Amino acid sequence: MSTITPVGERFHAELTELSTLVDSDRPGWTRRALSEVDIAGRDYARRLMKQAGLATRVDGAGNVIGVLPGRVGGREIMLGSHTDTVDGGGRFDGITGVLGAIEVVRLLQENNVGLDHDLVIVVFFNEEPNDFGFFCVGSRAMTGIVDRTTLATTDLAGRSLAETLPDSGIDPEAFLDARYDFSKVTAFLELHIEQGPELERMGKQIGVVETITGINHFKALFTGRQDHAGTTPMDVRADAGCAAAGTVLAVESIAESGTNTRGTSGHIQFTPEAVNVVSANASVEGEFRGPDGSWLNEAQRRLTDAADDQGAKRGVRVEMEWTTDDAPVPLHEPITSTIAEVADDLGQTRATMFSGAGHDAGIIAAETQVGMIFVPSHDGRSHCPEEFTELDDILPGIEVLLESVLRIDAAPRSGAPSR
Ligand code: GLV
Ligand code: MN
Ligand code: MN
Repeated sequence: MSTITPVGERFHAELTELSTLVDSDRPGWTRRALSEVDIAGRDYARRLMKQAGLATRVDGAGNVIGVLPGRVGGREIMLGSHTDTVDGGGRFDGITGVLGAIEVVRLLQENNVGLDHDLVIVVFFNEEPNDFGFFCVGSRAMTGIVDRTTLATTDLAGRSLAETLPDSGIDPEAFLDARYDFSKVTAFLELHIEQGPELERMGKQIGVVETITGINHFKALFTGRQDHAGTTPMDVRADAGCAAAGTVLAVESIAESGTNTRGTSGHIQFTPEAVNVVSANASVEGEFRGPDGSWLNEAQRRLTDAADDQGAKRGVRVEMEWTTDDAPVPLHEPITSTIAEVADDLGQTRATMFSGAGHDAGIIAAETQVGMIFVPSHDGRSHCPEEFTELDDILPGIEVLLESVLRIDAAPRSGAPSR
C-alpha cells in the first residue's frame, strides 16, 4: 500500500489562489460559469496541469482535459470536478476535487510511481445551474446528451445558450460534437466536500457515496394580463405573479410529502416589477430532488398539474418546461468498495453516504464505473460563503483518491480492483 502523503501547504496555497479568483461585483466566492472569472478559473487549473507535466487541451464543450500517459496506454482512469460556483457560493465546492486530482498527479510523479493506465484529469465546464436551467453542462456534452434543443434554450433576457457559449470560447457546433470515448475509461473518481452535516455529525473522515440524488429541474412561464392595481377588482384579475407564487408553494408542499425529498424554487420574476400594476408575466425555476426515481416522476406530474390549476383559476396561461430530469444514480460497486477498503487500510474512519447534491460523477456514471469520495463540511454549510472544510479534513480524501487510483490501475480488467 502507498505511504505517499499529500503536500498540504501546496494544496492549500492553490486552493486559496483559485478560490479568490472571484467576481468582485457578487457576494461570497462567486465564479459562475459563462463569466469572465470562470474562464480565469479554468485557465488557472490548466496552468497547474501543465506545470504538473500533463498534456492539456480544451474540448469543444469547454472542459479542460489533462493527460498523464501510462506505461501501457489505451486504457484510462479519469479524475475530475468543477471550478465554477453558484452565485454567492463557497471556496471548496468543486475546486477541492480539481486540485486534489492535480495533487495526485504530482504525488505520483514525485514518488516515481508509474501507472499502466493513462491518468486523465478533467475540469468540467459549468457544473452549477446556469441561467438556461442546465447544470453539469460539460459532462453532459462529454456523454453526448446535449442537442440543438439545449442550445436553443433561452435565459430570462431571451438570449440563447448558443449565443452565449462563444463568450466563453465555446463554438456551439463543437459543443454538440464533444462526445468523449468512454469505452477506454476503466473508472471515474471525484473527490468532493460533502456539503451536508452527516460526516461531521458521525465523526467520520471519509464518505463513500453509494447513490447521487435524482434532480428534476423546471422552468415555468405564466402569462396573465397587466392591469391597474387599484381599480381592477380581485375577481377579474389575471395575475401571473399570484399563479407563480402558488406554484412555488406547491413545490414546497409536494417536496414535504416524500422521504428525503427536496423541492426548491428560484429565479422568480414578475413583470412589470411594480406593486401598483397587476403582473402580466411571471417566471419561476425550481427543482425536485430525491433518492427515488418514481417519486420524482410523480412530483413532476403533480407540480405540472398544480401550476395548471394555479393558472386556470386566474385565467393565466402556464407553460411548464422540465429542462432536466435526471434519475437517481447508484455508483458502481467495485469502485465504491475499493474506496471503502482503501479508507479502512489507511486507518481512516468512513461512512456510506447518499449525495443530496448533484455532481458530474452522476452524469459520467452512465458511461463508466464511477466512485465519489466525500470529506466533511463544517456545520454542513455549502452553496454559501461560509462553506468550510479544514485542510486536515481534505488531505485524507486526497490520500484515498491516490490509493484508489493505484488499486484500480493494478486490478485485472474484469475483476474488482484489489492490491
Ligand atoms: C450542485 O452543486 C447541486 O447540487 O446543485
Ligand atoms: Mn455546487
Ligand atoms: Mn460541486
